Amino acid sequence: MGPFAVTQLLTLISLTVALDNGLLKIPPMGWMAWERFRCDVDCQDDPENCISEGLFRDMADRLAEDGWRELGYEYIIIDDCWMSRLRDEQEKLQPEPSRFPGGIAKLARYIHDRGLKLGIYADMGTHTCMGFPGTTLDKIEIDAQTFASWGVDYLKFDGCYSNPVEQMQGYPLMSKALNATGRPIVYSCSWPAYLGGLPPNVNYSLLGDICHLWRNYYDIQDSWDSVQGIIEWFSDNQDDLQPAAGPGRWNDPDMLIIGNFGLSVDQARSQMALWAIMAAPLIMSNDLRNLANSARAILQNKMIIAINQDPMGIQGRRLLQEKSQIEVYWRPLSHSASALVFLSRRTDMPYLYHTSLAKLNYDAGSYEAYEVFTSSTVTGLNATTVFTVSINPSGVVMWYLIPQQKPRQSDTLYDQHKKASQFMFHKEMSPLV
Ligand code: GLA
Repeated sequence: MGPFAVTQLLTLISLTVALDNGLLKIPPMGWMAWERFRCDVDCQDDPENCISEGLFRDMADRLAEDGWRELGYEYIIIDDCWMSRLRDEQEKLQPEPSRFPGGIAKLARYIHDRGLKLGIYADMGTHTCMGFPGTTLDKIEIDAQTFASWGVDYLKFDGCYSNPVEQMQGYPLMSKALNATGRPIVYSCSWPAYLGGLPPNVNYSLLGDICHLWRNYYDIQDSWDSVQGIIEWFSDNQDDLQPAAGPGRWNDPDMLIIGNFGLSVDQARSQMALWAIMAAPLIMSNDLRNLANSARAILQNKMIIAINQDPMGIQGRRLLQEKSQIEVYWRPLSHSASALVFLSRRTDMPYLYHTSLAKLNYDAGSYEAYEVFTSSTVTGLNATTVFTVSINPSGVVMWYLIPQQKPRQSDTLYDQHKKASQFMFHKEMSPLV
């Protein structure tokens, strides 16, 4: 192949792989304002909670000082309602000056100085969902440039007030425009959520080429009903959604609401467990200044984070829906390990669920299981061993499993954790037979 052909080939590759900038090989982790703080612009009466630079500085301080950053929670993402109602005289978006007097570039510096990254929100359409200036097709380049010039690291690009034809043009265009800035910027596309989230309306292979992650479904709300509805929709449609995910391309079932008002401790564990199975972004929307210890423990659970962040990046699947309203979820992980989640959709009392790994399609052999939320190990498990787990109503039991029959590779996820001094293997349990 001559040099001309090589150049042509390279051009072709760079045109087709529009956003392969190496970002998000594992799902993003961080914090986003929307679910908890919405469009609270009342800084007079609610100065602590209104959408303002102070709120984002507060959250950056918490991520940096309370152990979150070291666990991987690094993106602080501004959502809707940060903008002024008007673009400036050069047609650039600008923050509302009374709430962001220092401007976004200064806020980005504050966040970067703490080893964190800044995300921002814009909308492909005439207006954002809350009525602030939108990014119409003619504004895509200028907005991408503005964000890059401010030092933004992540863009959530919503889709209110545009039609499918405009979206079909606008989402790929923004991908190119972000690339053209030369700044590595994560690109989160809400596009599929506006098209019903499923093929044939949604082309997941195109999305994977142009976006790092995408919202597929409705907004999460602060309730178990909402979390359950999301889990159900993603599982019912897993044949379409699960293969779309992988390193650099993630389905986004929306924010973690753990630490807010709507979930019990069991339900919070269920959300965290299922988000880990789904290889979902771990983007909290809560008040990190006021967080119950139980919520903190769930969100900072190292093993569940490691499961979520597994480098193979294979999204898990629902394996079973039992008549008893127990559901079993599974995700394959690096080094032949795997995660299992037993979810109860019952509303009565803890349910004793009997099964075996063989029934869950595991190969013959022996396994060790680590119980993710109670820090106990289950030893002496054979694929055929019938074991019993007790699952609380709307709760989960979550296991991290490693096969024992194969020669142990030196650094399995499990080994790393076993070695880590923070990890206490409190008690050894045998399966209840
Ligand atoms: C849409 C999005 C939400 C949030 C709001 C802001 O509903 O799906 O995540 O960004 O807009 O107005």
